[in-house]
Amino acid sequence: MACNGKVEAAKGLVEEFSDYIREASIVGVGTGSTTALALREAARRGLLEGKILVASSISTALMLADLGFKPVMPHVVSRIDFYFDGADEVVLDGLYLLKGRGGALLGEKILAHSSTMRVYVVDDSKIVPRLGSRRALPLEVTPWALAHVLSELGKLGYSAAPRVSGGKDSPVTSDWGGIVVDVETGPIEDPAALDCKLKSIPGVVETGIFAGLADAVVVGSASCGYEVVWRDKGGR
Ligand code: A5P
Repeated sequence: MACNGKVEAAKGLVEEFSDYIREASIVGVGTGSTTALALREAARRGLLEGKILVASSISTALMLADLGFKPVMPHVVSRIDFYFDGADEVVLDGLYLLKGRGGALLGEKILAHSSTMRVYVVDDSKIVPRLGSRRALPLEVTPWALAHVLSELGKLGYSAAPRVSGGKDSPVTSDWGGIVVDVETGPIEDPAALDCKLKSIPGVVETGIFAGLADAVVVGSASCGYEVVWRDKGGR
């Protein structure tokens, strides 16, 4: 039988983490299609009633409002009990993530960093041996620093370009006003080290490398079912 891995992952989140969600007063909500499925499933099961819900992006805030919730933006929140989100690539050994396909990496990283428990929902197509195996690494870059950052990335040997989208003539900017730059890293040996190295370039606000920011990942299978992988058990 064939299943939708994203739907399976969303189901896995609400089945395996319902106690965490029930106990949480403040729940952070990531961005993307798998998060949306998990959010709808959690809402359908009444798990989010009475919670303060914090949105990681404008699109998530709009979705929460659409579902009848009154989302809170992160400006006024410094501590989140439970955060859930999607990811673009996952290395199960150590739970390293690559994020930012939708340009929301800055908001997502701030919320993940503020959270006590962070769980990600992905389908099994997102599992890779090394981050950067399939996708470019997104950065959030201060517009004023664009030329400088591109030049510094070139010196490091990376090909990088501001993201473009059919709906806009200028480069894509995030909800926070930064330009989204995609960097062709190829497979990344040491994600935490690369994250630090890139953030040492003035003008790089954040990177899409999430190292040490995942407590568990729910992997939904295209052959149906899901698996929960925990970081404190060493990933897989
Ligand atoms: C948003 O910028 C991203 O980090 C998303 O969280 C990520 O792309 C996962 O999205 P999907 O669940 O739609 O694949």
